[in-house]
Amino acid sequence: MTTSRRTLMTAAAAAGLAATAVGTGTGTAYAKDAKGGGHAVKEHFGTLADGTKVDRWTIENGRTRLSVLTYGGIVQSLEIPDRHGRMANVSLGFADLDSYVAGSPYFGALIGRYGNRIANGKFTLDGHAYQLPVNDGPNSLHGGDKGFDKRVWSIEPFEGGGNVGLTLRRVSPDGEMGYPGKLTVRVDYTLTPTGDWRIDYEATTDKPTVVNLTNHTYYNLGGEGTGSIYDHRLQIAASRYTPVGKTLIPTGELAKVAGTPFDFRRSKAVGRDIREAHQQVLYGQGIDHNFVLDKGITSRPEHIVTVSEPESGRVMRIATTEPGVQFYTGNFLVGTLAGTSGQVYRQGDGFCLETQHFPDSPNQAGFPSTVLRPGETYRSTTVHSFSTR
Ligand code: BGC
Repeated sequence: MTTSRRTLMTAAAAAGLAATAVGTGTGTAYAKDAKGGGHAVKEHFGTLADGTKVDRWTIENGRTRLSVLTYGGIVQSLEIPDRHGRMANVSLGFADLDSYVAGSPYFGALIGRYGNRIANGKFTLDGHAYQLPVNDGPNSLHGGDKGFDKRVWSIEPFEGGGNVGLTLRRVSPDGEMGYPGKLTVRVDYTLTPTGDWRIDYEATTDKPTVVNLTNHTYYNLGGEGTGSIYDHRLQIAASRYTPVGKTLIPTGELAKVAGTPFDFRRSKAVGRDIREAHQQVLYGQGIDHNFVLDKGITSRPEHIVTVSEPESGRVMRIATTEPGVQFYTGNFLVGTLAGTSGQVYRQGDGFCLETQHFPDSPNQAGFPSTVLRPGETYRSTTVHSFSTR
């Protein structure tokens, strides 16, 4: 299946169509334009049990190639070059739709309405109590049992200014998964001429609600299915993190990372301190924590993370407008899933860096607010830049 898709892409590129227009036919190709910009290809990826067809859109620009499913807005593949120019898919996932539907730990997914946990699935807003589905022990995780990651999004490609991108849209009805308000959501995945992958989220509501959108890509810069990420070197510009209790709900404290395994202020190997018997590492079965970014909330994306993989030389830098990032070391990958290239994923074979507001903010008065009111627009931007060393 993967091979035939590749063939289609290559054939489309080789055809050298001078197209810059945008269309929607299955397998429609938009070859590089005169300025070397990208093209978008749409293919059928699978069909859901209710008959809904799911497409896979692929865009390419500046040596980055991104494939996104209409199901869950899932990043199904992210290909970038190593220091010798060899491309590899650096995102964990599956080769077919059925595997995503059967049980994906949110591989590549667009997460909403609320990234991470809300304690006991409960919160109160303006005096109204809301109950969300509880789908992770006693808590609600990633928007409930049928969050944005399991919904079908409309996708339209766009081009302009050397960028090539996909616009994902969905209207989440009032009360969906227990959340108040009709939420109108737009997410742009843009590849810039230098191959940066930028995500712009936007949402409006007709009733007061809470929102915290993120992307749940699991990275392995050595290539998906190549084993552990513990040798990756990571730097996070965060002096504090939010410690959790045993069901991974923040205690409310903003604890210093200094002297703990959570100190990534200077670049270190991801696995260096992961076996330290620190209570927080035991609770998370590794690292599964929100880092409080020193820069705070910003109107423009600011640099927060540099992560690199020594063998391939691949480097990813992340900039965001968000105040936090959930660093998760793939602790619950336990050898039960075979990924895109057929290799089994084991603990620590991928990591997530989910830019976000802090977990359980609706119940934590001391955390930055995640409340969105009618007339306001929720906006969040995260940029991933790729290079080699
Ligand atoms: C959470 C983990 C969870 C994972 C996927 C992460 O965002 O922090 O606790 O296991 O998502 O399921």
